[in-house]
Order: sequence, then structure tokens, then C-alpha cells
Amino acid sequence: MSNDSSVASGAERVSRALRAAAASGRPGDRLPSNRALIAEHRASPVTVARVVARLVAESVLTTAPGRGTFVAPRRERRERDYGWQSVALGPPVLDAEPVRNLVSTPDVDLRVLSSGYLSPDLQPLRELTAATSRALRRPHAWEPADPAGLPELRRLLASAVGPQSEVDAGDVLVVPSGQTGLTTILRTLAPAGSTVLLEEPTYPGAVTATLAAGARAAPAPTDSGGLRPQLLGQALAMSGARVVYCQPMFANPTGRSLAPDRRREVLDVVAEAGAFLIEDDWARDLCFDGTAPAPLLADDLHGRVVHLRSLTKSVAPSLRIGAVISRGPVNRRLADARLADDFFVSRMLQEAAIELLSSAAWPRHLARLRSQLVLRRDALLQAVGEVTPELKVNHVPRGGFHLWARLPDAADDGECESGARRAAVVVGAGADYHLTRPTTSHLRLSFGAADPAGLRSGVQALARCLGD
Ligand SMILES: Cc1ncc(COP(=O)(O)O)c(C=O)c1O
Repeated sequence: MSNDSSVASGAERVSRALRAAAASGRPGDRLPSNRALIAEHRASPVTVARVVARLVAESVLTTAPGRGTFVAPRRERRERDYGWQSVALGPPVLDAEPVRNLVSTPDVDLRVLSSGYLSPDLQPLRELTAATSRALRRPHAWEPADPAGLPELRRLLASAVGPQSEVDAGDVLVVPSGQTGLTTILRTLAPAGSTVLLEEPTYPGAVTATLAAGARAAPAPTDSGGLRPQLLGQALAMSGARVVYCQPMFANPTGRSLAPDRRREVLDVVAEAGAFLIEDDWARDLCFDGTAPAPLLADDLHGRVVHLRSLTKSVAPSLRIGAVISRGPVNRRLADARLADDFFVSRMLQEAAIELLSSAAWPRHLARLRSQLVLRRDALLQAVGEVTPELKVNHVPRGGFHLWARLPDAADDGECESGARRAAVVVGAGADYHLTRPTTSHLRLSFGAADPAGLRSGVQALARCLGD
């Protein structure tokens, strides 16, 4: 946001002036009248009244009808001692820092080259606004919703996984985001003290959700074809794990997919161990080259696969709607776990999702998105090839929006990430996606994070840091 008063809106100018006057004045001091503010800042009476009401609500000002506006009394800060909490809390069970980095809202001046979400120009914001305003006119928009989700939305989400999966609306549990889906699944499937196997490297939010459930996170080795079935079998046998987490399609962070000839083997190995497989299918809508393979869920008859998807990835980060799809008794367990959390997902958001997914605009958005993503993948690959040839991208994904770029052997990904951050460029340090110390250094780059020109200028800025 610019500080230049010539481009600030009337509301910003008034708000800034009142805050400054309140900060430098004493409680009870009189502040400029609305009329004076209107004249000085060329703002409308409505704008000034709104800003004053906001600052009253924030306890910055007080108003007395007919008398004027005054600096509000200050809250007294009393001496506090939180030392006892460290004793009561004991050692932390998880360090959520890598996830915090993933979700921090980037400063407008940063060049974002790594993000878990689409850049705003790829989000269907106009369509979402239209869907939301239709949703607001639905008769029960602010009423409670069925704890498992609105039946209409469950039907839409069931059909979105494709006919091969034979999913019924009753198998679908609507959740407020993929991350909540993960915490619910892991809390339900992995008892405290048990082990969960996660593809290595993996999505840090899955590790955090595992640790938050009180379970241990252990690595399941992968290669260019994704999970390695034989090693997965050994890891299941040695650890006694009953839960495996994987992203079979365009995985975050590597962009790799499970090789078609491993699908059956992975499912068999999981079945032999009597385990569940969490299939995080976040990128199903983002397959831009060819047709997306059926989810693993489609090859599973006996309820081994618990499937997860989220609308935040193909729509916008704050359309916090996801789906957990499961069959058999686990479905009821998951629904009960959700009830313990928050009863139901905001009906308003569910209605908006229904309006969007069932509109003619939805398939048009997906088609545009996919055609843009392929252009941006190629733009990022070209920029990396020309500007930072020391970065090697060994796998070119056909979907999703992440590239896994290998750094030269002597380079340290953590240092590259912080150096880039100092130069106002956001990249992902490969080690944040690993459970064990990696032997090679990588950066996660995301081609959905900016337009082609932004991607190129981000890579140019990154090149200057790599050269330092
Ligand atoms: C692989 C993967 N799964 C799940 C999530 C959770 O996304 P959300 O909670 O926004 O739906 C993310 C977010 O970055 C992710 O990358």
C-alpha cells in the first residue's frame, strides 16, 4: 500500500490523520470536527462518518453527540508474568513455522515465486463475486447447515472426482479447507503415539497435522515415479504405521505423479498392512496437459483410500471449502470428529460454492486456468533455463503449479531462501518439505504465483541472489 497522500483514498487520508492526532494527543483532547475533516481531506460526509465509526469501534476515539470527537481513554498496560505457562504447557509438540511461511500474506512489493495458491489474476474473482451475491439471496444463507455439508454441494463434490470412483453424496463430508480435512483425518485415523508415513519430500501442512494429532511423522521414500511400493511395504512393516499420506498427482513440492504401474502395487501394500491411504488430490482441477488419471479412490473397493480435495486451489484461498471422501465405518468416525470441531461449515460459503460449481462460468474458468497454467509453466521453465541455468528442473509437470528446482551441490537452500527474501523474492527452501535432512538442495518455485512477466522478473531477481 502506498504512503503517498496523492494516491491514498479519502478514507485512508482521514483515517491516517485521526490516528496520528489520537496518538500524539492526550485522552479527552478534542479532535477535528467532521466538517473540518471533510474540507481538509476532500472526503465525503459518508466517508468521514464511516472512518470515525470505525475508529470509535477500535477504541481510538470517542464521540459525544453534539459535542464532538475526542481521543479515547488509553488502556492501562498492567505488569504481566506468563512464566508459569511454559511449565504448564511443557515442550511444544510441533513447530508450525514452515506452514506459517506458506500462508503468510505476501507484501505487495514482494515478487512471489513460490505459493500454495493461484495469483489473483488466475482466480475467477468476477464469477466468485456473482456466485456469492446469488448465494446471499438464497433463502437460508445464514442458517445452520447439515453437519456433513449441504446435500447439493456433496452431490457436486461427489461428481467432481469422476464416474470411475463411484462416489455417492453420502461418502462426502464437506470441510472448511483441505488443511482442516487433513487434521480431521489424521486425528481420526492416527492415534496419539502411532506413526504416519508421508511421502518424502512432502507438504509441510501434512506433517504439522500429523504432529498435532500426537502421532509421529516418518518418511516414505519416493523417486521420479512417486512412492516406491517395496520400500513403502518395508516402512509399514517396520513402523507399524496404519496411515500413509500421499499426493498421487502433481505433488507439492516436486510436481511428480505416482507412476501408473505403481498404483495397484501401492494399494496392495497398504491393504496388506491393514492401513489407510490418505489421497490428497488438491490438483485434480489443474491438469493442463492430457486428461487427469482417475484418483486412487477409483481403484479402491474396500474403503482403504480416504480422499481429500479442496476448492482453494482452483478458485481462491478464501473459498475455504474442501471435501473428505471415505467409505465404510470411517465415514461416520470422520463426521463425528468434525462435530467436535465446529458443527458445520459456514452455510454462506457452501451456498457460494454451489452457485459457482453449478454455473456455466465454472467449466469456462477451468479451461482458461489450464491454458494459462501451461503458458506460465513454460514461461517459468524458459526463464530458469535462460537466467538461472545453475538451477536444474528434472521433472516438467503436466499439472498443478509447482516446479522442483535443484540447486548446485555447494548451495544451501535455506540461505538461498533468506537471501532471496532480503531481495524481496519469495521462494520455497527445499528442506522445509523434508522430514529428514535432504542430501541435495532444492527450491520450490510456483508457476501459478505470478504472470509470465512477473515470473521472469522474479527469476532475474533470484539470479542476482544466487550470484552473490
Ligand atoms: C498439498 C496440499 N494439501 C492441502 C493443502 C491445504 O490447502 P487449503 O487448506 O487451502 O485447502 C495445501 C495448501 O497449500 C497443499 O499444498
